[in-house]
Amino acid sequence: MQSKGALHFPPGTTTLLAAICMSIFFLLLTTSSNYLLQASFGYFASQLPAASVTIDGLDNRRGDPPAIIELRDDLPTIIERRDDPPAITATIGSGAKSPEDVDAGKPLDWLRFPPIVNYTHKYLDLIAQNGSKPCHDVSTVKAQLFGLPKPQEGDSYIKFKCGPVHKLTLAAFDELDRKRCAGGDYFETEVSGQNWRSRAPVTDLEDGSYAILLQMHPDFAGVYNFKIILGFSNYHGLHRRPERWFRNETVIDMHIEFVREEESSVGGAVNLPRLSQCKREDFDLDAWIGRWVRTMYNRGCRIDKRGRFRCLDIDAKCTDPWCRGPIAGLESNGWVYSAHCAFRIFSQEDAWKCLNRKWIFFWGDSNHVDSVRNFLNFVLGFENITEVPRRFDNTYYRPNYPSQFVRITSMFNGHSNVSLNHEGLFSLHDEKFHEQVASFFREEKAPDALILNSGLHDGMYWKHLHQFAEEGADKAVEFWTSLLNGVQGRKPRVVYRTTIATAAWARGAAFNPHKMEVFNSMLVEKFKKANLLWGVVDGFDLTYPWHYDNNCSDGVHYGKPPAASSWYGQLGHQYFVDLMLVHILMHAICIS
Ligand SMILES: *[C@@H]1O[C@H](CO)[C@@H](O)[C@H](O)[C@H]1NC(C)=O
Ligand SMILES: *[C@@H]1O[C@H](CO)[C@@H](O)[C@H](O)[C@H]1NC(C)=O
Ligand SMILES: *[C@@H]1O[C@H](CO)[C@@H](O)[C@H](O)[C@H]1NC(C)=O
Ligand SMILES: *[C@@H]1O[C@H](CO)[C@@H](O)[C@H](O)[C@H]1NC(C)=O
Ligand SMILES: *[C@@H]1O[C@H](CO)[C@@H](O)[C@H](O)[C@H]1NC(C)=O
Ligand SMILES: *[C@@H]1O[C@H](CO)[C@@H](O)[C@H](O)[C@H]1NC(C)=O
Repeated sequence: MQSKGALHFPPGTTTLLAAICMSIFFLLLTTSSNYLLQASFGYFASQLPAASVTIDGLDNRRGDPPAIIELRDDLPTIIERRDDPPAITATIGSGAKSPEDVDAGKPLDWLRFPPIVNYTHKYLDLIAQNGSKPCHDVSTVKAQLFGLPKPQEGDSYIKFKCGPVHKLTLAAFDELDRKRCAGGDYFETEVSGQNWRSRAPVTDLEDGSYAILLQMHPDFAGVYNFKIILGFSNYHGLHRRPERWFRNETVIDMHIEFVREEESSVGGAVNLPRLSQCKREDFDLDAWIGRWVRTMYNRGCRIDKRGRFRCLDIDAKCTDPWCRGPIAGLESNGWVYSAHCAFRIFSQEDAWKCLNRKWIFFWGDSNHVDSVRNFLNFVLGFENITEVPRRFDNTYYRPNYPSQFVRITSMFNGHSNVSLNHEGLFSLHDEKFHEQVASFFREEKAPDALILNSGLHDGMYWKHLHQFAEEGADKAVEFWTSLLNGVQGRKPRVVYRTTIATAAWARGAAFNPHKMEVFNSMLVEKFKKANLLWGVVDGFDLTYPWHYDNNCSDGVHYGKPPAASSWYGQLGHQYFVDLMLVHILMHAICIS
């Protein structure tokens, strides 16, 4: 059943379309004179050509034009020159105030998204306005990055201090080198190194520029790859069929160095607050900005016969403060995710202590199907359950301890017909499915916890954003409000798990990250406004750092069962991202 369960799409078509788009783009670009910024190999700073940039609102002091960093053919430091150089230059900002610390003077804190306020209204408004001004009808051809700290003589890389939040500005330009005057471009970002992976959150300032924030913990000082990729421009990712608009253009690809602040130059508190274990109120946040870190690593670890990565000693404990518990349980060879707080990794014993006699109810797409199976196999000790159906209601007795049990109900919501796909929240318009879900909430006792999700199938179904908002999201909120209002006795703990960041080919598909980010925000806002949620678990941020290739995902699933078989040209795949999610959900369910 589960194999049927995948989201179906004709992969050939997508790849072909992507290939065509890419070819056209590269044809356009090979005539350009700028080369890919590979700052790892050094950089060259020169004066900015007079014609190039004057950007309103950017901190370019007159008489001190920003320098431009570019790689030149003749520099011996260039090891690689690609055939497909994007038309990009990165510019060193040189404002009166240092581009450095956004919060200079304030005590350091972890980067966080502001709460979602009036998001749906504002976004629908923005989309309704789109196309009404000449500004909208311009395509982004170039992008420039402002605010990079000035390099000192002898530096190999552009340096940022560990600790504070650094704000950079990316500006979009049209083919005539004019700065664009409208937003809607979707830039994907990556900060990656041996032991750290995160995104650098992007805010659309709606005037053709984008704020990009960077932050690094001092324990992870070092050299990083910093990438910015234009996924879609002009809100094109929101189309029902956006494939032909997928740009996938690398606009920045450079190395940056995060350095620890010297102890001596310290004025005030320079340390980020220690991450504490997530508490109840930590799940109130609408969206997370977290990171994957690796503090342990077994270099020689190989995939085993069953496709698993049992790399670390089972007794190995998490490195404080990034998680707590037996880190080997993630089978990630040391990688672990934390957000504004850190999560607990559960041993089988702890998991059963919390879950015994509980009833957990899942409602979501096929990622839920994988998560439930992984939960049973990896956390609850079943080990050999090869699949669970898309919809089921079952009681599981603990292996070797039959007095302990947990009831799990899972209702796939990708379509009202369990064998089909691509309806998403529209499935609630089907009476029979509606009734099937509702019937569980008329039992004497309601489930203890509800894990809700929707998004991927919605990406395929809804023609317009407002249709998703009104006929999809509003309908779902109305549905759950009526079910939960009808619950006699103790109400379930309701967790909304946001939709994953789709990977590889799926970055350009109908359920692309651009669209999912908007859908997630709308659903979270609406569910919260109706007071339905106990908390949010941000599956989007969790999956994002792994969404550029197929190592951890087939595009739309991060939790496929381990298998020592061929996977996108390599042997086996990583499933730890979904396992991390399982432990985060456990943390949410089990916290008092
Ligand atoms: C919400 O956004 C809409 C559209 O931008 C605006 O008209 C409205 O005043 C906003 N409401 C609040 C409460 O901010
Ligand atoms: C936004 O407007 C531009 C310019 O008219 C158009 O090309 C684009 O398709 C619009 N985006 C959406 C999502 O409608
Ligand atoms: C799962 O299968 C393996 C291999 O057949 C076996 O060694 C193991 O005991 C099984 N686990 C459980 C919990 O049944
Ligand atoms: C669900 O879809 C399958 C495949 O199209 C079909 O055979 C089946 O009859 C449908 N079931 C219902 C209840 O409509
Ligand atoms: C996007 O671009 C990268 C780098 O050029 C390439 O490896 C990848 O296959 C592209 N992805 C898609 C979906 O076209
Ligand atoms: C998977 O990740 C490893 C380590 O980051 C990398 O070396 C490898 O090329 C990746 N494989 C694929 C297929 O992307």
